[in-house]
This record gives sequence, structure tokens and C-alpha cells, in this order.
Amino acid sequence: MSDRIKIEDGKLIVPDKPTIPFIEGDGIGKDITGPSQRVIDAAVKKAYGATRQLMWKEVLAGEKAYKETGNYLPEETLDAFKEYLIGIKGPLQTPVGEGIRSLNVALRQTLDLYVCLRPVRWFKGVPSPIRYPSLVDMHIFRENTEDIYAGIEYQVGDEKNKKFRDFLINEMGVDKIRFPESSSFGVKPISKDGSERLTKAAIEYAVQRNLPSVTIVHKGNIMKYTEGAFKNWSYDLAETEFGEQTFTWRQYENLKKDKGQLDADKALEEAKSAGKVIVKDCITDAFLQESLLHPWDHSVIATMNLNGDYISDQLAAMVGGIGISPGANINYNSGYAIFEATHGTAPNIAGTGKANPGSLILSGVMMLEYLGWDEAAEHVYDALEHVFAKRKVTSDLHAQMEGATLLSTSEFADEIIKNIH
Ligand code: NAI
Repeated sequence: MSDRIKIEDGKLIVPDKPTIPFIEGDGIGKDITGPSQRVIDAAVKKAYGATRQLMWKEVLAGEKAYKETGNYLPEETLDAFKEYLIGIKGPLQTPVGEGIRSLNVALRQTLDLYVCLRPVRWFKGVPSPIRYPSLVDMHIFRENTEDIYAGIEYQVGDEKNKKFRDFLINEMGVDKIRFPESSSFGVKPISKDGSERLTKAAIEYAVQRNLPSVTIVHKGNIMKYTEGAFKNWSYDLAETEFGEQTFTWRQYENLKKDKGQLDADKALEEAKSAGKVIVKDCITDAFLQESLLHPWDHSVIATMNLNGDYISDQLAAMVGGIGISPGANINYNSGYAIFEATHGTAPNIAGTGKANPGSLILSGVMMLEYLGWDEAAEHVYDALEHVFAKRKVTSDLHAQMEGATLLSTSEFADEIIKNIH
């Protein structure tokens, strides 16, 4: 008997055989979904025998949905994610000219999945462009519902663009638009509510996992009332709601001003030895450099939508690329979560057996951790480490690894299963 996952008083109630809706996805989605499910199922079986099992339930989206129902994102699919709370998806092609900007964005908006979580860790043997990849253990919390992604844009030449421009110039007294006649405009909403719920999730994650720091990444030096406000609201929240568990750089700076450097340094050292999470901030451009040079200084990263987009890809490239970078979109209040491969549909290799299923497999592992099935998750991490150590990889990594054995998508999945001990 399968069953539904529920949330009560903020805690997930997970039955032994929960129904998990999944979207196969377009392009390489077909190639990676089956093999990924086989790996996850094998790990669950190894960890819990017949006691626990994921009951996969296919729901339609993308090309497959369009062919079968005439709709890229049928209402039943959204209903299934609402009913079963937690699901997983392969990549979806963005339909051209169909009135929906992106199916992924539609799913995130409908379920208000405000955190995009991307853990970044390195597996021994995987090629990396940085010097000490083994010291990379970062967790990106990207805000998923606000910022320039809200889609409020006015194209040059449009009637609304003229109205907006005239409003800015005539009503708001704006005189800094360099070329008003030929400018398009975009609006960047960043709210206190949105910033606080994102940072709260990031700090709670750090506290629960005993991670040493949260870095607030922002461009507040330029965008004071949006990105700068994000930084301030995040510090406020850390100090008021997590006063016992955190120590912030702002507190450090204030202490330094009031009592001097020695006292501030002492307070920081005491906070570290007490196991408090150090909450700091970094300007985005400096962070892109910092994360390459000193990745070990940054554990959890809390940032807004656009910064998070750039940072996610850079950090993924540091540990082997999008083929093995997992992700999840989560609403920690309602419990809704969709785990997903972070790459696209890769039409250039679809159906060839070249796709790396790693990203979707690791997204499945994140899902196991979210369910609290940590033993099964550990089995997959462990098996993947063995497979990479033996240099058995798919074509994306094969080209960069000397003496590696080339495996197809499904052979790679089989190899992982063989190594689940
Ligand atoms: P892409 O991620 O599909 O491909 C970029 C490059 O990475 C290609 O060379 C591809 O072969 C390679 N690649 C991607 N995943 C791989 C894997 N698992 N193993 C080995 N190689 C892999 O990005 P692109 O080409 O910009 O987008 C194609 C389509 O995917 C578009 O329609 C786009 O909108 C959609 N897309 C969907 C996403 C999602 O569903 N979350 C995310 C990104 C793009």
C-alpha cells in the first residue's frame, strides 16, 4: 500500500511506502530517469529491505504531456505535486511561443517553492579546475520567487514602456536614464518577507547540520534598497531569531567600534568554539573570486535569485559540471519540494546513451535526505565514490580523465548499483 507524505506542525510525516510523483522530462530526461530510479530503489532496498520503498507515480509535463493531452503542464500534474507534497523531475524544454515562459518557473510559482537549494561537493577522482577540490563543501540557498526573475519587464517601443518611462521621468523626477528613448526596463522586487524566509531556511540548515558559516552574498554597495536591504534584513533575522546559535560580522564590527579589536576577536573566537554559526556577508563579484580561492571559508550561501543563478553554475563547474550537480526547489513551510536535475534537456546528446544521470541521481539522494532516509542516501554517496575512484564515467567526464573507462548512461547506473554494499 502506498501512501501520502504529510506535514504536521512543520514536521514531515513520511510513510514507509510513500507515493512519489515524477516527471520524466524532455530530451535526455528519457535517458536518465529510469536508470536514476533504479539506483535510488537499490539504495533504499539495501538500507531498509522490504520495509521501505518509494512508489513512483508518473505525471506528465513537457513534450510528452503535450502529445498526450495537448497541454504542456496539465492541471493533474500540479494537483499530484500538491497532493503528494514531494516529487522529482527530469529537465523540461521551454516551449517556444506558447504563452508559458518556462514550465520550471510555472511549477516553482504555483507551489511557491521559495528556496532553490544546490549542494556542491566534490567526489574524489572527478576532474576539477581548482587546486583543492576536496575542501569544497558548499550549499547554495538561492531565493526562487523574487528579483529580476519576477518577469516585470517593459520592452523598448511598447506602449507600456513609454508609460513606465514617462512615470519615472515626470512623476518620480528620475533624470539618470542615459538613453531614455531607446531603453528597455526591468523591475527588481526584493521584499523583507522574501528575504527573511530564505535566510531563515539557510540558517536553520546550517544549525541542523553543524555547518560553520552562512555567507550572505549581495550587491548592496550598488543596489542599496534591494540587495543592500537583503543583507540588512538577513543580519537582523540572524541576530533576533537565532541569537543563541549565531554570531554575525555586524556584531563583530559593532564590538570593534565600541570596545576595540581585541574584544571583538575574542568574541568571535568564543562564538566559534561554542559551535555557533558565523553569519557574514560578501559582495557578489568578490564572492565569485573568493569561492574559487578560499571555498573552505564558505559553507552555506544565502543569496537572491540572479546572483544565485551565476553562483550555482560557477560552483558546479568547480566540482565536475552540471552533469553531476543536483538541486531542489523547496517551500519549508508547506513542505512542498521538487527535486530536479539542474541541467537542461541536452538535445544534442538525447537518445545516444551519453548523458550523465549523476545530477538526477544526486537530486534523488537529496530527496532521500529530505525524507529523513539518510542511510539510503549514504549508500549512494558511498557507491558513487567507489565508481569515480575506479574512473568509470560517462562521456562528459571521460574526455577530461586520463585512463578512464567510458560507460553509457545505463551502464553507469548499473555500476553504481553494483557498488552499493
Ligand atoms: P543543457 O543543460 O541542456 O546543455 C548544455 C550542455 O551541457 C550541452 O552540451 C549538453 O550536451 C551538456 N549536458 C547537459 N546535461 C548533461 C548531462 N546530464 N550529461 C552530459 N552532458 C550534459 O542547456 P541548454 O542547451 O541551454 O538547454 C536545452 C533546453 O533545456 C532548453 O529548452 C532549456 O530551456 C532547457 N533547460 C531546462 C532546465 C530544467 O528543466 N531545469 C534547465 C536548463 C535548461
